[in-house]
Amino acid sequence: MKGKNIPFSKEQIESIIKTYPTPFHIYDEKGMVEYAKYFVNAFSWNKGFKEYYAIKACPNPYLMKILRNQGFGIDCSSLAELVLAEKLGMRGEEIMFTSNDTPDYEYKKAVELGAIINLDDITHIDYLEKTAGIPELVCFRYNPGALKGGNVIIGNPEDSKYGFTREQLFEGYKRLKNKGVKRFGIHTMVASNELDPEYFIETAEIIFDTIVDIYKEVGIRFEFANLGGGIGIPYKNEHKPVDLEKVSTGIQALYEKMIVGNGLDPLKIFFESGRAITGPFGFLVSKVLHLKETYKKYVGLDSCMANLMRPALYGAYHHITVLGKESETCNTIYDVTGSLCENNDKFAINRLLPKIEVGDIIVIHDSGAHGHSMGFNYNGKLRSAELLLREDGSVKQIRRAESLDDLFATLDFDGLQNFTVLK
Ligand SMILES: Cc1ncc(COP(=O)(O)O)c(C=O)c1O
Repeated sequence: MKGKNIPFSKEQIESIIKTYPTPFHIYDEKGMVEYAKYFVNAFSWNKGFKEYYAIKACPNPYLMKILRNQGFGIDCSSLAELVLAEKLGMRGEEIMFTSNDTPDYEYKKAVELGAIINLDDITHIDYLEKTAGIPELVCFRYNPGALKGGNVIIGNPEDSKYGFTREQLFEGYKRLKNKGVKRFGIHTMVASNELDPEYFIETAEIIFDTIVDIYKEVGIRFEFANLGGGIGIPYKNEHKPVDLEKVSTGIQALYEKMIVGNGLDPLKIFFESGRAITGPFGFLVSKVLHLKETYKKYVGLDSCMANLMRPALYGAYHHITVLGKESETCNTIYDVTGSLCENNDKFAINRLLPKIEVGDIIVIHDSGAHGHSMGFNYNGKLRSAELLLREDGSVKQIRRAESLDDLFATLDFDGLQNFTVLK
C-alpha cells in the first residue's frame, strides 16, 4: 500500500484510544510548527511579512496559540472568530478581519479589538462609518474580474461574490483619502487549494500593478498587500506541495521591479492561509464497526461526514491508511462509509485498500482544515474530540468530544412538561 506519512505508530494510537475513544482528530504539533517556520523563513526578505492564519480552517485556540508563537496573526471572518482571537489575548494589527455581507455587530467587535478591517464592498465604507466608525487603517478586497482575459490559473473571479471591481477600488480609496484615512492595505483572494506556485506570483503581479496605478491616480501609498489564502495541499500522493521558496523568489523579483522601482517600498506582504497551515497535520482516527457486502463492499466506521464532510460535500479525495497494514497489498475495493442517513456519507468510494477487518484503525489524512470545523449535528451526531500530538510525543486533549447534554442544551425539556398540545 503506497502510503502518506503518519506522525504516529499503531501502538501509540492504540494507547491513545484507551484514554480517548475514537473517533477523534489528532494534530501533529511538530509538523505544523516546522511548516510555520518554513513559511515565515521563505519570506524573510520582506520586512513586516506576516501570515494571518485563517482560523475558519481549524478554529481551535490551542493551535492558534502555537502558530502565534511562530509570529502568525489571525484572520477572522465572523464574531465567533473575533471572540476566539480576543480569548487568546490577540489585539490590534495581529487580527485581520476579512468578512463579507458583514453585520454591524461584527464590525463593532472588530473595531473594538483594533483589528485590520478588510472591506468586501464599496457600500460598506458608509456602513462601517455609521456602525463603528472608520479606523485609521483600512483595506479593500479586490476582485480582479476578467483581468488578463480569462486567465486559466485565476479562473473566473467575475462569478465570485467577493470584493471590489477595479473601478470601485479606485473610487473607494479616493473616498477614504477624503475622509482623512492615512493608512491603507489591499487584499485579494481568488482561488482555493491551488498547487501551482505561478498562481501566487501572478496574483502578486496583479496586486503590485494595482498598487502602482492607485498611487499614480489617487496619490496614496500602501502599507501592505494581503495575497489571501488558497495555498493548496497534496491530498493525493502524486500531488506536490507548493514550493513556497519558489513563490517567494518570484514575488521578490516583482517587488524589486514594481514596488521598489516605483519608490513604493516598504510594502509588507501578508498571507491569510488556512488549509496549508493545519490541513496536512490533522488526522481523523476511526475504528471499523461493521463490514457489509451487498452489490459492493462497505466499511462502516464509527465516524461520519459530520466529522469530515469534504468528501461528501465536494467529492474531495482524502487519503486513507489502515493502521498496521501499510505494507499490505491493496487488493480490495471498498466504499468507506459513516452512519448518517445520507447515501453520500462516504469518506471514499471504490477505494482500493488492504483487506479490512472489524476493529481495524482507520486514519483519514489531511483533516486539519475544514474537518472538525465543518462539523454538524445531523442525526444527532456529536462532534468529536480534538487531540494534539505534542513534539515530545505526549498527547493533550485540546477540545473534548460533545456530549448529548451539549446537543440538547438549547432545548427546554422542563418547558415540555407544561406544553399543552392544542387539540
Ligand atoms: C477570505 C478568506 N481568507 C482566507 C481563506 C483561507 O483560505 P485557504 O484555507 O484556502 O488558505 C479563506 C478560505 O475560505 C477565505 O475565504
